[in-house]
Amino acid sequence: MDECFIKLNSKEKIILLKLGGSLLTDKNKPFSIREDVVKSAVRQIIEANEKLILIHGGGSFGHPLAKKYNITKGLDKSIPNQILGVAETHHSMNKFNNFLIELFLDNQFPVLSIQSSSIFIKNLNKIVTNSIDAIEAALDLNILPILYGDIIFDISGSFSIISGDQIILELSKNLKKHDISKVIFTMETDGLYVKDENDSDNYILVEQCKCDELGSLKLADMGQKIDVTGGIKGKLDSIKKICENNIPVQLINGLESKYIYKSLKGQKIDCTLVIK
Ligand code: IPE
Repeated sequence: MDECFIKLNSKEKIILLKLGGSLLTDKNKPFSIREDVVKSAVRQIIEANEKLILIHGGGSFGHPLAKKYNITKGLDKSIPNQILGVAETHHSMNKFNNFLIELFLDNQFPVLSIQSSSIFIKNLNKIVTNSIDAIEAALDLNILPILYGDIIFDISGSFSIISGDQIILELSKNLKKHDISKVIFTMETDGLYVKDENDSDNYILVEQCKCDELGSLKLADMGQKIDVTGGIKGKLDSIKKICENNIPVQLINGLESKYIYKSLKGQKIDCTLVIK
């Protein structure tokens, strides 16, 4: 058999799961973890026991600090203590990440924290991914790699924020030994909603749509909180780019009982599925 054919087929399938920061934390109250939600998510991931990479957002551990020091705009000497703010933002995310790591380990489930600020860097505003071999090595040993939104350096001597969604995009472009079967975004709603044309007070869940239709959807405004990484518009852009690489994206409600488990297991739930 053709060697190339064998290689293509020997790639292992994995899922990328993003737990949104506004789901896991109270975005309006700095440094507050929604412990029940986090514990339930961790329990469902352990129970599903699928091969995956977990990525989590910042919520109230990332956005308020990033906003305070205007980190997304890069180095600005007029902002007092901005460099210290970069270090504090990273540390705050690290602390939050540790909370999740400990929950997994307390349940004897092997996980490993991977710091995005150590493996990704920007060059002329473009993210450069040098090597994510460590992530694939962990996966091969059945260790669940966990990444999180973080600060990112720019080789020009500046910095900004890398969101969980950007991390997913980078992983989807750069994983070598694994094929991504789907990306799951876990949020606080069942997915994307559009206004009901016959009843303006009513919203309808978009169950399935093509990625090139995303831009023209008349999305309902489901309310926004502080978000330094682009909010829903940024999310739609990332989803579109992921889908264009032929990876289906599922938007699911992390507050619904067992939805994370069911999604990981490919069971039917109310959600939005975006396909190419
Ligand atoms: C943001 O990551 C990380 C920081 C602000 C440091 P995300 O943009 O992925 O976080 P959420 O999911 O929106 O909270």
